[in-house]
Amino acid sequence: MEVIIKKDYDDVCSESAAIIEEAWRRKNNLVLGFATGKTPLGLYEKLVEFYRQGRIDFSAVTAFNLDEYVGLEASHPQSFAHYMDHHLFRHVNIRKEDIFRLSGRPPDIDEHCRAYERKVRDSGGIDIQILGIGKNGHIAFNEPGSSLSSRTRLKILTPETVAAIRPFFQDEKEVPRFCLTMGIGTILETKTALLLASGKDKAGIIARAVEGPLTASVPASALQLHARAIFVIDEAAASKLTKRDYYRWAYENKDRALDPLKIIPLKTKG
Ligand code: F6R
Repeated sequence: MEVIIKKDYDDVCSESAAIIEEAWRRKNNLVLGFATGKTPLGLYEKLVEFYRQGRIDFSAVTAFNLDEYVGLEASHPQSFAHYMDHHLFRHVNIRKEDIFRLSGRPPDIDEHCRAYERKVRDSGGIDIQILGIGKNGHIAFNEPGSSLSSRTRLKILTPETVAAIRPFFQDEKEVPRFCLTMGIGTILETKTALLLASGKDKAGIIARAVEGPLTASVPASALQLHARAIFVIDEAAASKLTKRDYYRWAYENKDRALDPLKIIPLKTKG
């Protein structure tokens, strides 16, 4: 697991966009997994900017959305399908046929989820999965207690998550209680998991996910099992990590690892 600590939210988004740009340079037909929510908005703005500057071309990129509310049409302003179109897809040259999303109203939920997993596999697997983290430790909508080997499926949202999304819906009857989400097992198979977090209200859960025990009670802790999980977080979200100095040092020195003479000594407190 790599923990990259940046000064603030804007730097978190710039660093994450740079990681994606670098990956795209190596593989133009990148397969990207996209999360919604507040946190990745700045990253998507940067990706649009990079596209306009000719730094990333999306014509060979394949996209998978991470989750979707059950009951909402793709055209609903609060659907994750609408969010991704609005904040990224409509601004770049990704081909419509290369965008895969979970439907909020599939005729057969189980079959739809199995087909989604097959699509991910047929695409060669997700190269970079962008993730946020819920204050209760959820990744995608794998709420606490989710099996660490779960696959794409229907999940029941917790009361906290329902309370967090309620303000975005005008009609109480529309507030989703269920969602379809990639599973933790699905996320663990992605080649890189790129988790972004910002703000002090995420500090406690980031500390539990990164330095706490591996537990289904904190679904994000499952990323400790991921072959390449990168947490890009700001100072506020990092404030409860005990090994902050080490993470910073490791990040500053990683390009120098092949030349030990250039390694800057680690300054530890006390
Ligand atoms: C959304 C998703 C969620 C969010 C999480 C954090 O697609 O997968 O896990 O990433 O709820 O949301 P924000 O970024 O709004 O704090």
